[in-house]
Amino acid sequence: MTSSSATGRPRLTILGTGYLGATHAVCMAELGFEVLGMDTDAGKVASLAAGVVPFHEPGLQELLQQNLATGRLRFTTSYAEVAEFGDVHFLCVGTPQKKGEYAADLTYVDAVVDGLGPLLTRPCLVAGKSTVPAGTAERLADRLAEIAPVGAAAELAWNPEFLREGFAVEDTLTPDRLVFGVRSEAAEVRLREAFAPVLALGTPVVVTDLATAQLVKVAANAFLATKISFINAMAEVCEATGADVVTLSKSLSYDTRIGGRFLQAGLGFGGGCLPKDIRAFMARAGELGVDQALSFLREVDAINLRRRARTVDLARELLDGSLAGTRVAVLGAAFKPDSDDIRDSPALDVAASCQRQGAAVRVYDPAAMDNARREHPELAYSPSASHALAHADVVLHLTEWAEFRALDPAEVKSLVASPNIVDGRNALDPVAWRDAGWTYRALGRP
Ligand code: UDX
Repeated sequence: MTSSSATGRPRLTILGTGYLGATHAVCMAELGFEVLGMDTDAGKVASLAAGVVPFHEPGLQELLQQNLATGRLRFTTSYAEVAEFGDVHFLCVGTPQKKGEYAADLTYVDAVVDGLGPLLTRPCLVAGKSTVPAGTAERLADRLAEIAPVGAAAELAWNPEFLREGFAVEDTLTPDRLVFGVRSEAAEVRLREAFAPVLALGTPVVVTDLATAQLVKVAANAFLATKISFINAMAEVCEATGADVVTLSKSLSYDTRIGGRFLQAGLGFGGGCLPKDIRAFMARAGELGVDQALSFLREVDAINLRRRARTVDLARELLDGSLAGTRVAVLGAAFKPDSDDIRDSPALDVAASCQRQGAAVRVYDPAAMDNARREHPELAYSPSASHALAHADVVLHLTEWAEFRALDPAEVKSLVASPNIVDGRNALDPVAWRDAGWTYRALGRP
């Protein structure tokens, strides 16, 4: 392709600088590309331009500052600047769940195409990274060709993203695989140029059509959610039979056909991806007339939500049948450790449920306090774990931060009113806690 960059590499733009976009922008600059990140949220843009990442992601802020200093990485709120600058435009905006529906809300994706399209006056590639329902990329490709002054020379491709929060930098710089959904050889060549340093590491690349590329992402998340709910379903059986799900999971994991990853039983999955993605997938399957093919995902979702209810039940059992008038210490608010993300957080769901049943709940999380406070102002928040633990009748361990795993059971015992603990993540050592005099309960364990 003809590159406008002095380095001979394509110049990249990133549309949407949320979790995915900000990480992608920083990492592509780190790989040596000239990158322009764009967001309509001026506050986000100002923060990133000043070297401050507006969310918690290990290692990202340092990398942002280093790359701003090289001059390769800039941020803007202007579509015109993006259209003028970029050879490859990465579409990284969110596709949240619609209010009151299972389907994905494509407002932001559509807004970017409609905002950028009319300004595209030279050949370029728009590469979608957002998680979208089947058929979206084809629709956007047609729309782009229709509204771009350069016409069909503004091509659309799909390049799904698989990054995990907490490992976002690593997952972007050294991904397990790349998927290029393209309609032409030219589009493939452009993507190969845009990922040349990653491909040079020997990263496997799958080149396919738009339909398959879009599906890879939702299929991957559906599989991961299913794997977690499978082991949590086994936890339910363990609870009825006296078996131990942690030992069961370990035993299964030695079978290389099964593997041990995403086989940790506990409070289940939350976050901004897995729950909404399986729901949007079911909604789209219904529209496509293949809802039966995905009806199992309804069960995956139900198993997952039952674990939250079971955790509240365990707390109630430890408190002689009622949460009313009790003090509950909640350790963890983020949907997983090393993140400040509280979207669909199982921990906060459980905390709010205990509070509704009459308990006075105090929550502590090492990173997610501000977000949690905003979403659940009805809960009380503690500045430290020991503050949350003081005088508690029951302790709920709901997000497995290293800080909580390092707690000394004997020391914690001296803080609480009664030594009752529910380990919602099967991450603490039951022997150590019981030896220190605690009544220790966990999901799927005797
Ligand atoms: C997920 C996918 O992993 C990623 O590929 C995709 O791009 C976005 O969605 P993320 O939401 O960051 O990433 O979190 P992930 O690490 O996958 O964990 C999801 C949830 O599952 C967390 O709440 C976690 O606590 C839970 N989980 C994970 C389990 O309950 N058990 C497990 O064994 C693994």
